[in-house]
Amino acid sequence: MVVLLFCRTKTFFMKRLTITFLAAVLSLAGHCNEGMWLPFLLENNIGEMREMGLHLTADDIYNINQACLKDAVVGFVDLDNPFSHFCSGSVISAQGLVITNHHCGLSVVQQHSSLQNDYITNGFWAMSLADELGGNDIGVCFLRRMEDVTETILQGVSDTLSVKRRNDLINSNISQLEKKVSDSTGLKAHVDAFYCDNEYYLSVYEIFEDIRLVGTPPIEVGKFGGDTDNWAWPRHTGDFTLFRIYADSQNQPAAYSDKNVPYRASNYLKINAKQKAEGDFVMLMGYPGTTNEYLPSFAVAARQDVFDPLVVNVRGKSINIIKEHMRADQSVMIKYTSKVASLANAWKKYQGERTGLISKRVVEKKRGREQLMNKWIAETDERKAQYGNLLDYYEADYIEYVKQEKARLLMSETLYKSEMLAIGRKIRTILNLNISDSAKQSQIIDYLNDFFTDYDLATDRTVTSMLIGEYLDNALPEHIPPTLKKMNRATAADVLISKSFLTDSASAVAFFKKSLAPDTKKLMKDPLYKLADEAALIYNITIGNPLGQIERKIDNHQRLFMRLQRQCFANSRIFPDANSTFRIAYGQIGGYRPSDAVRYTPFSTLGGIMEKCDLDVYDYTVPDRLKQLYADSDFGPYRNADGSMPVCFLSTCHTTGGNSGSPMFDADGNLIGLNFDRVWEGTMSDLQFDADICRNIGLDIRFVLFFIDKYAGARHLIEELDIVGLSE
Ligand code: ARG
Ligand code: ASP
Repeated sequence: MVVLLFCRTKTFFMKRLTITFLAAVLSLAGHCNEGMWLPFLLENNIGEMREMGLHLTADDIYNINQACLKDAVVGFVDLDNPFSHFCSGSVISAQGLVITNHHCGLSVVQQHSSLQNDYITNGFWAMSLADELGGNDIGVCFLRRMEDVTETILQGVSDTLSVKRRNDLINSNISQLEKKVSDSTGLKAHVDAFYCDNEYYLSVYEIFEDIRLVGTPPIEVGKFGGDTDNWAWPRHTGDFTLFRIYADSQNQPAAYSDKNVPYRASNYLKINAKQKAEGDFVMLMGYPGTTNEYLPSFAVAARQDVFDPLVVNVRGKSINIIKEHMRADQSVMIKYTSKVASLANAWKKYQGERTGLISKRVVEKKRGREQLMNKWIAETDERKAQYGNLLDYYEADYIEYVKQEKARLLMSETLYKSEMLAIGRKIRTILNLNISDSAKQSQIIDYLNDFFTDYDLATDRTVTSMLIGEYLDNALPEHIPPTLKKMNRATAADVLISKSFLTDSASAVAFFKKSLAPDTKKLMKDPLYKLADEAALIYNITIGNPLGQIERKIDNHQRLFMRLQRQCFANSRIFPDANSTFRIAYGQIGGYRPSDAVRYTPFSTLGGIMEKCDLDVYDYTVPDRLKQLYADSDFGPYRNADGSMPVCFLSTCHTTGGNSGSPMFDADGNLIGLNFDRVWEGTMSDLQFDADICRNIGLDIRFVLFFIDKYAGARHLIEELDIVGLSE
């Protein structure tokens, strides 16, 4: 089924379009698998979803007055940034057990790991509630309700206001409403912009702060395939981790305390352990972070040819250096596992994105769409008055934007990625806070103690030296910090280390312990602090000010461009870009053709892990115990009919970063898998979804059950779950 994106007056000009051009333009049309939809507006999708196989009603999925599926879905947040969801998850037992991805919980596992208790390498299983590991700085949120508040937020806003006035007024309307709702409900209210600042919706959340680690597989399973297989199919990663929500005696959110008890969940997901088939309906819910599906052609071209290559180049070099150090030293391995994973993730994704954008000729297709829009505009004087010069102005301003953004990105990917320079920058930020001297002192000391637990000077020295070289080679002369200008690039990192007291934990902490207000003169004489300070000034002011100005213009152009697209293509359903709010995606289980003469099937099995294991690749090692279970075919009732053990599967849902850990549901709303990734050919879906090659990768829930039961021997957790469809 294809929803065609037609301009209202299509016949007028379409006759003149060549067949190829038409095909190109229309293949940008919405497909039933494309889109991240809003739970409270599901009536627009539910007909199609049911046609595709769903057995539920819109109310079964989202209803603020009765139990529904959304009540078992959670967003994972950092407690100091509670509206930005870094991952998704779901509640799977009446005692608040939550499942998400291994890579979502990895930093928590790392915090509890040491050389003696190396949970990253060995995995961790709490055999009783008392063993569950708390004191973590993450929380989970439940969406309680969502509604359109555009009218309230746009009160007093007219098209004649300056961009600045408009933004100020909107921000003040947003703060007032958020405060009003938070005060009256005791919950956390947040207003987000949708459709590129054309609409505003309120989300009301309940956030639980005491989340404890319950179980996680060894990294060889939880991250099997590592960076070699990341963003790729065929995939065999057991990417899951279990947490438990704790609440106070009233079942309410509370800060971590040993008095807290497991959360009593009235809504949790049933698990379906039945074998899946290609074509089965799949639905997925969670918190996708950011997409940019409605950019003009020139913005996609900049991402493809300027921004993506910059990130890929510098990160590739850092990753190689860090991995060398990790291989040579197990303590560096523990300290840098999570750091290198986050560098490598974007590094690989942007390569796939660029390849996909080029192979699917997205810039060209977008240009075709812009021609359609220009023709539509030319049809009436009113349209001409509203949008006549929009694309020309937008494109002209974009040239300036690319220049400024490139300078920012370069600094952020080089000097800002040096860990030693980050020390200076963080101290600078704390010293600039409007808090008492003693609060500053304790924040700095806490930060330093924290920082040095995961720091390796030798690794950072080599990385920083490379990063400085990259910056000097590519930055505009006016963006080079004076301290750096005076240094010799080959020895700069060594000089910073030998002349600064900040790269040594003892001397750094001692300096700030000495007196409440640090001796700023001495600090400014420290070359590392001085360089960090100069870089921050360049980043925030020399680059930041003009960039901020041009960004405001670009955002305004994009707001109008989005409005234009919704008017011109009014016959199609257009979903709002992801913005870390609750969304629903749907599609079916399905493979794809990555290239000519190749077709990928959508299911992988444990046998595939064993095949990869034999290849002697660093990322392809697994614990002996898993090999033994395989050799014994000891898969319990979780295996396929042919006796194989399922691991991962593909579906056609539209997902992005933040959707990791998202529950994947069958047609009855039972849990069948956990989303954790996308395929390499399809990472372009953040800018353009292509139904041929965009697939999300899920971990089969049966692998999770098998692992908990047969590998970890944590039968008590299996007993907690509500499982249907077991083969025995
Ligand atoms: N690519 C996935 C995502 O963006 C998974 C990342 C974790 N896995 C890894 N091998 N680095 O988050
Ligand atoms: N792996 C991503 C995540 O962590 C999901 C994706 O980008 O497809 O959210």
